[in-house]
Amino acid sequence: MSHLLIEGGRPLVGRHKVYGAKNAALPILAATVLARDTFEIENVPDLLDLKIMIAILHALGARVRREGTTLYVDTREIHRTEVPEELMGQMRSSLFLMGPLVARYREATLYRPGGCAIGTRRIDFHVEGLRRLGARVVEEGGRIEARALALRGATIVLPYPSVGATENLMMAAALAEGTTRIVNAAREPEIEDLGRFLNAMGARVYGAGEATIVVEGVRELRGTRHRVIPDRIVAGTFLFAAAITGGDVVLEDARPEHMEAVLDLLATSGAELEVGADTIRLRGKLPPRPLPRVVTAPHPGFPTDLQPQLVTYLTQSEGTSVVVETVFDGRFRHAEELVRMGAKIYVDQRTAVIEGPTRLKGERVRAYDLRGGAALVLAGLAAEGTTRVYGLTHIDRGYMRIEEELAALGASIRRVSATREEEAAG
Ligand code: EPZ
Repeated sequence: MSHLLIEGGRPLVGRHKVYGAKNAALPILAATVLARDTFEIENVPDLLDLKIMIAILHALGARVRREGTTLYVDTREIHRTEVPEELMGQMRSSLFLMGPLVARYREATLYRPGGCAIGTRRIDFHVEGLRRLGARVVEEGGRIEARALALRGATIVLPYPSVGATENLMMAAALAEGTTRIVNAAREPEIEDLGRFLNAMGARVYGAGEATIVVEGVRELRGTRHRVIPDRIVAGTFLFAAAITGGDVVLEDARPEHMEAVLDLLATSGAELEVGADTIRLRGKLPPRPLPRVVTAPHPGFPTDLQPQLVTYLTQSEGTSVVVETVFDGRFRHAEELVRMGAKIYVDQRTAVIEGPTRLKGERVRAYDLRGGAALVLAGLAAEGTTRVYGLTHIDRGYMRIEEELAALGASIRRVSATREEEAAG
């Protein structure tokens, strides 16, 4: 089976350029369906999840061409409003097509989305929100049919600041008649970026990034050019990689203002940070200080997508740390694998107690989800001996050639392809 082979124990040193954010590019690509026009979208990384989104746009009849990190999207020939079940099953973000399709074409057929197994992932906020805007949404046997003669602005109060529901409803409201208020909206930087993109298309979105978003519907939207923001989760992953190896890494093209909770936490743990306008330098100090209680939360709280990397880092701290995962109810699978490498982690439902410092030992480990996979790579970088990380499909969803990026910083890491026999064995 193809896997990453890592020889641990080398501090990471050097500069890393942060590429565009997967979680901004995905809803932005879905939003192109709101117009019948051409778009130029820059800083879009070549990741598995984006390949799936492009395949979905193709299936609807759009044309998408990639030149380096720029995508040229042409939605003038869209003629289908059903997202293929096979593609929906591969990625939760395929759900982002629901709002734009109903808003622009008055109908959408989707299926229960797949994606990372990190806990219960319901879609009720998306469905209830669209119903509030006047759509008829029926779900039967995993098939979701949404129809509307017209969407009308309304006040939608989200029970929880869901990122995906906020984005789907912003897009639907952009072409609805009248004004929509999304209350208790998610405030992630990726939502601000989507708001900028929609406004560049001619929408009237106010307050993206705040707890209440107001959208005044317009009759028509047009194509535009846009540069996607840098990926704060990839940036955070590289900072934890530098910290856990006692390295010295400078991130370029970063947005420190999107990462305050992460930078504060790293500084509290003893890492030395120098923060510039778009650069972050981190010098890792081992062992890190323990953190008595870290709670993941919606932005601007500590992001759940960096929780696995944090847990790995804290296995090296001198003392006991506690991490509480409040966003998802099943996001500690990486802990089992870390324990197999010698870590002392006790998980009770949404709480992990980490006792350190423990000497991690190279092992064969498996990624069960995207960020859990990244955490195992970090463990391999810090471990004694050889680690083999399997389940690369998960990691490739959100990291672009992670082994090359880390090797450029001095890590001993390479991708081992499956042998013909293993391929044949499947
Ligand atoms: C987005 O997922 C991100 N994905 C996730 O990143 C991230 O972990 C998550 O937000 C939280 O920050 C993308 O942006 C593509 P939510 P999303 O809706 O939109 C519950 C990664 O690693 N909920 O904010 O799916 C839900 O079960 C990925 O890049 C409902 O109950 O997250 C969860 O407990 C993984 N009903 C909580 O809300 C709903 O209708 C937060 O989910 C919707 C959500």
